[in-house]
Amino acid sequence: MNQRMLVTLCCLLLAWTMAAQQRTETLLEKNWRFTKGDVADAMKPEFDDTKWETVTVPHDWAIYGPFDRNNDLQNVAVTQNLETAASVKTGRTGGLPYVGVGWYRTTFEAPAGKQVSLVFDGAMSEARVYVNGQEACFWPCGYNSFHCDVTPYIYKDGQPNVLAVRLENRPQSSRWYPGAGLYRNVRVVATEAVHVPVWGTQLTTPHVAADYASVCLKTTVEGAGQQDVRIVTEILSPEGQVVAVKDNTMKINHGKPFEQNFLVDKPQLWSPETPYLYKASSKIYVDGRQVDEYVTRFGIRSIKLVADKGFFLNGKHRKFQGVCNHHDLGPLGAAINVAALRRQLTLLKDMGCDAIRTSHNMPAPELVQLCDEMGFMMMLEPFDEWDIAKCENGYHRFFNEWAEKDMVNMLRQYRNNPSVVMWSIGNEVPTQCSPEGYKVASFLQDICHREDPTRPVTCGMDQVSCVLGNGFAAMLDVPGFNYRTHRYVEAYGQLPQNLVLGSETASTVSSRGVYKFPAELKKHAMYDDHQSSGYDLEACSWSNVPDEDFALADDYDWTLGQFVWTGFDYLGEPSPYDTDAWPSHSSVFGIIDLASLPKDRYYLYRSLWNKRDNTLHVLPHWTWPGREGENTPVFVYTSYPEAELFVNGKSYGKQRKLDAKTALSLKEKDALWLQRRYRLMWMDVPYEAGELKVVAYDKDGRPAEEKIVRTAGKPHHLEVVADRMQLTADGKDLAYITVRVVDKDGNLCPADNRLVTFSVKGAGTYRAAANGDATCLDLFHLPRMHAFSGQLTAIVQSGLLEGDLIFEAKAKGLRTGKLILKVAP
Ligand code: GAL
Repeated sequence: MNQRMLVTLCCLLLAWTMAAQQRTETLLEKNWRFTKGDVADAMKPEFDDTKWETVTVPHDWAIYGPFDRNNDLQNVAVTQNLETAASVKTGRTGGLPYVGVGWYRTTFEAPAGKQVSLVFDGAMSEARVYVNGQEACFWPCGYNSFHCDVTPYIYKDGQPNVLAVRLENRPQSSRWYPGAGLYRNVRVVATEAVHVPVWGTQLTTPHVAADYASVCLKTTVEGAGQQDVRIVTEILSPEGQVVAVKDNTMKINHGKPFEQNFLVDKPQLWSPETPYLYKASSKIYVDGRQVDEYVTRFGIRSIKLVADKGFFLNGKHRKFQGVCNHHDLGPLGAAINVAALRRQLTLLKDMGCDAIRTSHNMPAPELVQLCDEMGFMMMLEPFDEWDIAKCENGYHRFFNEWAEKDMVNMLRQYRNNPSVVMWSIGNEVPTQCSPEGYKVASFLQDICHREDPTRPVTCGMDQVSCVLGNGFAAMLDVPGFNYRTHRYVEAYGQLPQNLVLGSETASTVSSRGVYKFPAELKKHAMYDDHQSSGYDLEACSWSNVPDEDFALADDYDWTLGQFVWTGFDYLGEPSPYDTDAWPSHSSVFGIIDLASLPKDRYYLYRSLWNKRDNTLHVLPHWTWPGREGENTPVFVYTSYPEAELFVNGKSYGKQRKLDAKTALSLKEKDALWLQRRYRLMWMDVPYEAGELKVVAYDKDGRPAEEKIVRTAGKPHHLEVVADRMQLTADGKDLAYITVRVVDKDGNLCPADNRLVTFSVKGAGTYRAAANGDATCLDLFHLPRMHAFSGQLTAIVQSGLLEGDLIFEAKAKGLRTGKLILKVAP
């Protein structure tokens, strides 16, 4: 290399380092100090926190329990569950100790002369943020991301700055487990004086077609005063190629964002099936010097609603095959973890789910990013209450002052994410029945339209008579109904939009591996064991079983599809055991249980929603000592039209899914007439031990696939199967290990609930376990857990070093299960 080349290289390197330093983003993860309870002076820089616990953020202080029926005991009438008199509610918020004050402290470096902001992805709740002893900001809503400019409080001499955060959760502030603490990421963003602020761009794709798309980027630049600002933006394709460039200078600072427009030829369109992502990479210059670089990730896609016809993505009609999810990650609590989110989305993807409603709050940014990448459409929903209370200490206390600020943060943070296709302004808010409630709805909808003119707005409404009568439903872009399937047709007929969205559906209840006899449709069924039947025929008094929602989607063009309550079981809200029913403390609404194990219902949805793979699933299990000769109905959830059932070789005949008309003709004589469109059911099968076999036939009547379930013998060993055999050595990656009690031939022992203990050695640690039993009080973070219906899930976490992670599961009387996972850079 000659000297000139060397000098050029050095200059380039220097320029690169300087550019790299213009904007720094630092995650504050390690070495936080934490204490539960209020502490005077804890905000002061000199406060001695050495006796506090050392924790890593994201951190959920309440998930370590212990469970107790007195934790957040609520004596209320849940009016949305049609209750009129108050009664004691145990476990409503998970029976975990989330109530109270918690303090966190850490230090951070901030380069001298920079603009410094702190960004909190969410802090539960009523966060008061202090920097070097001074209160820098307050944000009451525990789910929303917020940022504060802390530049005035930063030490000028370069010494570490002290950050202290006080959080407070009031009793009766939630209808589910909210989590507690700094449960999402915290970062320090340092920029030059002239910079793009947090969430400072707005990107839209006004024209989307196969031959070209137009892209409009609006960039806010702060701190430039009257100086000229030059922005050079490159549009990068999913493969990283520059496909468009604009170089513009803003001569007059008129206070508006800086606008650049681009054309992208033959765009690769974003959809759940093709989640292509582009980037707009902008360099900002003042006086010829680069002062900032800001990257906006986006997708090119179009969305459209057509009255009477429904929702179109990129010009193609589709119905939402969505689920609602609360934010907790089961045994990990509310503390965010990308691997755990990815695991959830992987399961949902395989089911054929293509949409998520973040009920009833703002999501973690990692979830939205993953939905962009993995291909899920999203409905983001900020509120469960407005100005009228659902919970004594709920968000209504803040609504009037904070609603607009909360909306603006959510809208600005996520309006560039292609996965987000709709905003919801609330869930079953009591305000829907106020004569002037539509004004509040209109206020919130207008904020959405102002901040993001590209997406429609809905609201989850459950009081159909109110909202049809008082104008509330008519003024929304999209009328969203929660349950009340029997009123869809009427609502469609009355409303000007000529569309109805199932903003929340089903709330079918079931416990994995538990079956109740006889198998029949029931509302609010309760049993001594506090479980619900796995035949998927039970729902709450206000809700319904999945078949009703399938039929509405199939039979009426104007239905937009649905968001099932819920994809995953969550902590809290243990309906139907939601009154004084301790130890029930987590939900049974999930298609997938709290241990991330699919219930039978998973395959019912999969059989209709997953258009790529075939589904053939048979239930119940076939180990029923004592039920010999008793009627034990067999259900098959399958994508095939027809199947035949055999017990120990004896045929019980073929069943075929019925078309709508034939099913309806059975209405008078068969309670399960509607189910016969979507499930294959043999109602009269006397149980005998042995082999249950189902042979599925394709549309031409040819045998296509078979499934066998055998009666289990004596429990023999623990089978352990990990969802992934290799983890990244980042100290955060997770593997979910299914532990199953099986007989010597590997058949699941479906009634075995024995205690299992775990050990993890080598390149990782034990993180948590769960079994999906809503009544089980085993603590998630301890390395022991009872099996439930023969199964449980243990979660292990990678360390920072590569090597082998050795996992063992032991239980009395069984051969140990052992697995070796690789942890690699
Ligand atoms: C709905 C509500 C959800 C959940 C669900 C249980 O009314 O929107 O948050 O409570 O009922 O069925």
